[in-house]
Amino acid sequence: MIELKGKKAIITGGAGGIGLAAARTFTKAGAEVIIADINETAGLKAAEETGATFIRCDVSNSQDVQKVIAAANGKLDILYNNAGVYWNGRDGRITEIEEDNWEKIIAINLRSVYLFCKYALPLLMKQGGSIINTASSAGMIGIPNCDAYTATKGAIVQLTKSMAAEYGRYNVRVNCISPAAIMTPMVKESNPPDSTFDENSFLNLRTPLRRYGTPEEIADLACYLASDQATYLNGAIIAADGGITINGDLSHPDKH
Ligand SMILES: NC(=O)c1ccc[n+]([C@@H]2O[C@H](COP(=O)([O-])OP(=O)(O)OC[C@H]3O[C@@H](n4cnc5c(N)ncnc54)[C@H](O)[C@@H]3O)[C@@H](O)[C@H]2O)c1
Repeated sequence: MIELKGKKAIITGGAGGIGLAAARTFTKAGAEVIIADINETAGLKAAEETGATFIRCDVSNSQDVQKVIAAANGKLDILYNNAGVYWNGRDGRITEIEEDNWEKIIAINLRSVYLFCKYALPLLMKQGGSIINTASSAGMIGIPNCDAYTATKGAIVQLTKSMAAEYGRYNVRVNCISPAAIMTPMVKESNPPDSTFDENSFLNLRTPLRRYGTPEEIADLACYLASDQATYLNGAIIAADGGITINGDLSHPDKH
């Protein structure tokens, strides 16, 4: 059992999906958790269930972010930058994305990481700590029809590396989880039943484990990265995707 006793954590997007699973896992491991999420109803419910503190926050808004950091009262050990959006229909190919949608996706997925790191680092650097960023398979390989999302996730991969190189000397470790196909509201929304997405082919051809991942599987990894059992992990980009992004198997599903 991984322990986070005595540690204080901020989890962005902690009201749903992977972030909610992390709020459960981190609090069970003994951490004091602050959930920062734009969804007030779900956030309050998550706080009641887990014992975390909820602060309503649009992660792309500097004032909101600073309010969350202030709530840590000068002590922070873990920053889990998890919040993100995949806007099916509004994202797409460069030629199809409205300028306003491009700006908003970049702000929610990437500016948020800049803002949270900028204001959290002075606290983390006091005694050392762990930043966990969130990329995606879209940050590792070319995934069509979500160019704004892809741009943010690729940037987060690289930002993780430069930050790891810069802040390691303060004993702040910066790592990145790169998930794919984790069954959450985001994944359900990105492949609506009326779309051309063929779930059977996806699971049988692209997915070596032949299944979706669970939010808890990502939360366990985040908990490990946050803990004192991962103290020599810095600058790591961990593909937590059941092997999807390294899978070269394009054979016919009937043969398996
Ligand atoms: N689910 C997957 O398969 C998958 C794959 C690759 C990457 N990811 C990444 O993992 C992270 C979590 O994804 P998820 O599947 O749990 O998503 P989700 O949509 O299920 O949950 C996202 C959470 O972020 C919150 N949020 C959205 N916009 C916000 C904003 N502006 N300010 C504050 N909070 C906001 C939502 O309210 C929600 O609680 C995201 O960064 C996503 O890009 C997920």
